Order: sequence, then structure tokens, then C-alpha cells
Amino acid sequence: MKSTLIAPSILSGDFANMGREVEGLKSAGADWVHIDVMDGIFVPNITFGFKMISDIRPHSDLTFDTHLMIDKPSRYVERFVKAGSQYVTFHLEAEPDVDGTIAIIKAAGCKCGLAINPDTDVDKLIPYLDKLDMALIMTVFPGFGGQRFIDGSLERIARAKALVKRYAPHALVEVDGGVTADNAAEIISAGADVLVAGSAVFNADDRAAAVARIRGE
Ligand code: DX5
Ligand code: ZN
Repeated sequence: MKSTLIAPSILSGDFANMGREVEGLKSAGADWVHIDVMDGIFVPNITFGFKMISDIRPHSDLTFDTHLMIDKPSRYVERFVKAGSQYVTFHLEAEPDVDGTIAIIKAAGCKCGLAINPDTDVDKLIPYLDKLDMALIMTVFPGFGGQRFIDGSLERIARAKALVKRYAPHALVEVDGGVTADNAAEIISAGADVLVAGSAVFNADDRAAAVARIRGE
């Protein structure tokens, strides 16, 4: 069986040393680098944009998993692909033209994910699943690292996994928000293929040990 992928979120890293932070993730055992882009409109926080991604790109050969928490992402997705992302994920709630945005990302040669907030019905993914490479289930309201995993999210993950199996067997289910070594096992059992972990990795004294514990090793 394919093991779960661990994607530490650099949102919890040191922004003054992002190259070094990203360099350390491979030796810590991470599979992907999760990159949280926020615009202060779709979410009440602002992080960084294309230049950060292209500047850290030479510091790692891991997959760059870019999570756009921005309003009307269709305007910018191509530039996030060109900056060095292998996956670009945008929010269903943020984009009136979901199909068009998926098409732009795929035409740019990138894998495409679609994210939903904790209060969006998981079944709203159904019309898009066969075009997607990944469904991202938010288990906190996006905007900030270090929040608590929302109760009831395991059922949403299980529903997403069932839908992906039915409509897009090749696609991955990614879970983002409040993932820790203590709840990772049940999140994986519910159906997660990719676990995002920000504070649980970056705030740990030993990041390699933190990644291993989240993976269940
Ligand atoms: C939240 C971001 C997450 C966040 C996860 O808006 O999308 O990726 O960084 O952080 P933790 O793991 O600390 O909840
Ligand atoms: Zn994220």
C-alpha cells in the first residue's frame, strides 16, 4: 500500500530564512512542501506570492504543493505554475469559473487540486472530480496555522475519499489544518493520502521525528 505523503506547511516556518527552512524538509523526511498563499481578501491574513516561490524553488527538489487562499484565482494560477509549483490548488468558494481555472492549470502542465472550507458540502466537489488530481479538505477555517482540528472532519474526509474512489480513482485526498502526531492515524484511516502539517512540524525541536510520528512510524 502506498504510504501517506507528508507536506509540511512553510506558513509556520521562519520567513526570514525560508530557503534554509525548505532545504531542511527533505532530510526531515517530508515528501512535499506545502505553500500557503493568502491575499487578505479570501482569508483574513496575507502571506506571500510568486517571488517567494520562485526564490525558494532552487532550495529543494521536493514537490511544491501550492495552496491558493485568494479571491478569483483564475487571474493568477498560471503565474503560480510558472513560479515552480507541481500542484496548484484553489478554493471552490473563491472562483466563479471552476472549470476554466482547472483548465488553465492543466494546460500549464501542472497538477490541479480543488479545496473546500469546513462549512462547504463535500458533494459540491462531484462535478469537478474527474478533472482533478487532488481534493483538499480543510479541517480548520483557512487563514492561520496552529488551529485545532474541527470535530466532525473525519466524516468529511471519508466522504471525500468515497467520492474520489468513485469519480477520480487516480486523485489524492489532502487534509489540511490541525494535523498532529496524535490525530494523524485516524485521519489516515478516514482516507487521507496527503497530510499537511504546519505547526506540528515547524514548532517541533526535532522536525524529522515530528514527520515520522505524523506518518505513524
Ligand atoms: C491554513 C493553512 C494550513 C496551515 C496548517 O489556512 O492552509 O496549511 O498552515 O497549519 P497547522 O498544521 O498548524 O494547522
Ligand atoms: Zn494550506
